[in-house]
Amino acid sequence: MAKLLVTGGAGFIGANFVHYWRDRHPDDAITVLDALTYAGNRANLAGANSVDFVHGDIKDTALVESLLATRGIDTIVHFAAESHVDRSIHGPAAFIDTNILGTMSLLTAARATWLAGDGKPHRFHHVSTDEVYGSLGPNDPAFSETTPYAPNSPYSASKAASDHLVRAWHHTYGLEVTTSNCSNNYGPYQFPEKLIPLFLINALHGRNLPIYGDGMQIRDWLHVEDHCRGIEAVLLRGRVGETYCIGGGAELPNITVIDTLCAAVDAAFAADPALATRFPDAPAARGLATASLKTTVADRPGHDRRYAIDETKARAELGYAPARTFEQGFAATLGWYLANEAWWRGVLDGSYRDWVDMNYTAR
Ligand code: NAD
Ligand code: DAU
Repeated sequence: MAKLLVTGGAGFIGANFVHYWRDRHPDDAITVLDALTYAGNRANLAGANSVDFVHGDIKDTALVESLLATRGIDTIVHFAAESHVDRSIHGPAAFIDTNILGTMSLLTAARATWLAGDGKPHRFHHVSTDEVYGSLGPNDPAFSETTPYAPNSPYSASKAASDHLVRAWHHTYGLEVTTSNCSNNYGPYQFPEKLIPLFLINALHGRNLPIYGDGMQIRDWLHVEDHCRGIEAVLLRGRVGETYCIGGGAELPNITVIDTLCAAVDAAFAADPALATRFPDAPAARGLATASLKTTVADRPGHDRRYAIDETKARAELGYAPARTFEQGFAATLGWYLANEAWWRGVLDGSYRDWVDMNYTAR
């Protein structure tokens, strides 16, 4: 039986991971540590039984040390971060603070507790991104674990720094670490600032779909449940001190993702007349094409052109392969957002913050 501390477990990927792990490892103990920033949402953990939620900051080293010691935690799965590139362009400081100093705080607490203890096996798994490798040209080989780091945004620079800290705590102090660098996740509970949930919700409201630049930037799309399986594979079979690239096998230009989304929304409205009543402002409610909402806007400063993942190592060593095509994963995601309107309405109207206000502001 493992005892996990999941940082950032009320965010998008962290919450999906908690649900995933709870379903498949029912005997393990799970503590979530989350500061509930704008991206954290208690509702993301609804239905995850026997999960102990601690509202706190990864930068609070004393709190982390006490959680590790009193709960006998042997595994940290570290998701907590500032994660949105556009926000990092407008306000980089929070990214340095959380992603670099926050990771150092966790490493400090883990070292103090685990390496001063009885030498039992432990694991610090660091969840990172393919963005640390920079931007690929059209004919460059895909990123792999040996690609030199070349981060281009304040977000990716802060994640790169955190990756280096994790590596250093292994090499210098002997902390038992693994790191995974994955591509663009999509799926349930994703905050509607990222491309897919933002565009889906805009399409349902008849709002513009703002395409940065020429829309020909390429990303590899990874369904979040496949990402969770990849992390599980690293935790169970990964070698200490190693990094693993996890991809979705779906390298697509943004415009293809957006056209797929528009066509899928049109098809959903054609198949289910009730959607026109629920979302009367959607062009599809009036028989018009969702694609009519596409609007070109100024490009993101420093916008990386292409990401791609070579997952040979994860495949060979861990037996990892994504289970879904983008078409399957996207159809399931559209279905989830249509079936979980209350979740995203709560995010849009801000009521998802009520739990924080009720529990903390009054004190
Ligand atoms: P998210 O923004 O949805 O969630 C981040 C979570 O971390 C939130 O619950 C937030 O409250 C929490 N958090 C932030 N600062 C904290 C702090 N100081 N202490 C405790 N909790 C804090 O992020 P996400 O998209 O779920 O990403 C999770 C991780 O995966 C991040 O490390 C990110 O860099 C990485 N990643 C994300 C993607 C992606 O496509 N979303 C891809 C590759 C890697
Ligand atoms: O590659 C992994 C990374 O993927 C993660 O590390 C990040 O945490 C995650 O946010 C994501 O970063 P991106 O910048 O690629 O994701 P985003 O959803 O913001 O944008 C995806 C692409 O769509 C990108 O090329 C920018 C473009 N875009 C995005 C938005 C929000 C638009 O054209 N219009 C938009 O309004």
